[in-house]
Amino acid sequence: MKLIIVKDQQEGAKKAFEIFQEAINNGAKVLGLATGSTPLPLYKEMRESDLDFSELVSVNLDEYVGLEGTDPNSYRQFMEENLFQAKPFKASYVPDGKNPNAEEVLAEYDRILEEHPLDVQLLGLGVNGHIGFNEPGTPFDKTTHKVNLTDETIESNKRFFDKEEDVPRYAYTMGPKSIMAAKQVVLLAFGESKADAVKGMVEGPVTEDLPASVLQNHPDTTVIVDEAAASKLTRSK
Ligand code: GLP
Repeated sequence: MKLIIVKDQQEGAKKAFEIFQEAINNGAKVLGLATGSTPLPLYKEMRESDLDFSELVSVNLDEYVGLEGTDPNSYRQFMEENLFQAKPFKASYVPDGKNPNAEEVLAEYDRILEEHPLDVQLLGLGVNGHIGFNEPGTPFDKTTHKVNLTDETIESNKRFFDKEEDVPRYAYTMGPKSIMAAKQVVLLAFGESKADAVKGMVEGPVTEDLPASVLQNHPDTTVIVDEAAASKLTRSK
């Protein structure tokens, strides 16, 4: 696990942008993308760049169950607004949150991932160490699955909704196994609220209680954190 400590989210976005640029120059064709506030400056860098995604495929990590793709809180809509409208891909996949038939959605997404193996997967980090929507306790061998979101995640994500009751209780997400299959992983985490999760991910035991710790077993993962998120680490590289 390579660790890069930056001064702030902007600098982190620039570093992450360079990694994506290099991967694309080296032939990456499938980008695994993430939502949340963490990647926003990176998506801005991408929008303002001369990178061309029109021959690339994107596959997003997760989606809330029950939201139409046009719902302002859906991750599909988030991606449209923050990246896809400005930089269209050849195809952009996000799990189909409006399809209540989980079995169908999950099988379809696993098929998509098989057809488009991930070259670079971007990740944020939940305050409880989740990646995608893989909450603590998720078996590492899960591929795409349906999750019951934890109270902590609902609490943390309610800032995007008008009221807490509006936050969906379920999500479809790539599993730890799907993420670990990516050739390269770039994880971003900024701010003090992520410091415990960062410490567990980088220095703690590899445990299903802290899903991101599985990345210690990934051969090519770069973790980019700011000083606040790195504040509980004992190592600095
Ligand atoms: C959500 C997403 C994750 C994301 C996390 C952190 O739960 N499913 O993919 O990493 O939020 O969000 P933020 O970047 O806003 O802190």
